[in-house]
Amino acid sequence: MRRATITGWGKCVPPAVLTNADLETLMDTSDEWITSRSGIKERRITHVENSDMAVVAASHALASAGLTDDDIDTVIVATCTPDRVIPATATFVQEKMGLRNAACYDINAACSGFVYGLHLANSLIATQAAHRVLLIGSEKLSVLIDIEDRSTAVLFGDGAGAVVLEATEGTDGVLASNMGSDGQLARALTAPGLGSEEDVPVDEAGRVYMDGREVFRNAVVQMGSAALAAVTDAGLELEDIDLLIPHQANVRIIDATARRMDLSPEKVFMNIASYGNTSAASIPIALTEALEEGRIDPGDNVVFVAFGGGLTWAAATLAWGERVEPIGRSDAALPPTDSTAVELLTKRQKTRLRGTAE
Ligand code: UT7
Repeated sequence: MRRATITGWGKCVPPAVLTNADLETLMDTSDEWITSRSGIKERRITHVENSDMAVVAASHALASAGLTDDDIDTVIVATCTPDRVIPATATFVQEKMGLRNAACYDINAACSGFVYGLHLANSLIATQAAHRVLLIGSEKLSVLIDIEDRSTAVLFGDGAGAVVLEATEGTDGVLASNMGSDGQLARALTAPGLGSEEDVPVDEAGRVYMDGREVFRNAVVQMGSAALAAVTDAGLELEDIDLLIPHQANVRIIDATARRMDLSPEKVFMNIASYGNTSAASIPIALTEALEEGRIDPGDNVVFVAFGGGLTWAAATLAWGERVEPIGRSDAALPPTDSTAVELLTKRQKTRLRGTAE
């Protein structure tokens, strides 16, 4: 049966690091609170645009697959922080990389975006509507951070991850995937004032709001159910799973999901301490690091599961192929910066406040 398999992978994490100690200088919080409630120690703050991070991650993914930009027929960017409302960030990626033969568009399922994108890419490849898809999860969440709201400001970070998906008729590839959402909770995690909605109070515009407890409660339930369904639908048993790569939002949510799946800690990949919640970028960044660290062997069964604004959720089970090393390497990198993460964040805060004062 024809389906999609991952043949290339890559990531881009911006150089400026925002530690919990930095946050203590900006707001009434503590390393102890952030670590015990979320598991986050530091996160990255970008000095460039979302599409610039996407391009670096995508360049590594293409080299890893041994392909050139002309080989790609579809570019999907999963993001809730696009460079602009029009055009799609995927077309800025095309502008910067070439990709002359590709159709380009974005999808927004917030933190579930990458797994939604995987489901979509697999469907396109299975039906021969696409042959080689570049799927990128990329986020510049720092533009939505309000340093006066400590309940959200400590959680989010910037970054990008990308995969190349190609057709296979073998035993590898996406074995099963599912997606879901509950629009009754659409306002539990939201960033108003950046779309076409009118009459948004100016002091509420352009920043993220979250009912953390509501999101947490639902995340624990839906991530577990979605992941279990993806395993069952793949015709596998829980003991067949070699690695779970969950969305990195909160170490307590990840632990609860792993318990529900009866997985031991060594079968769960976590890098939340280093990057915080990077929304649609978190799973492809984690996948790339899992491969770099030798956590995936040929033929392994890998499960992705995510949860986020919408509220949305999604899971997928993949059988990894024979290759766990990149075919080629790219030297793509972001330009250096002299700005610290605190400087970048406070500058963004001033820009937003200026915008709301106008
Ligand atoms: O990517 C997908 C979407 N996001 C998520 O999955 C996130 C889901 N939610 C969560 O991860 C957790 O709800 C949080 C980490 C956001 C919060 O953890 P919590 O255990 O649910 O804390 P809480 O919201 O119940 O707040 C507990 C206390 C409050 O004080 P009072 O009212 O009990 O006196 C908050 O004001 O902690 C206080 N608080 C803080 N204290 C220090 C909230 N934020 C902070 C902070 N530093 N940064």
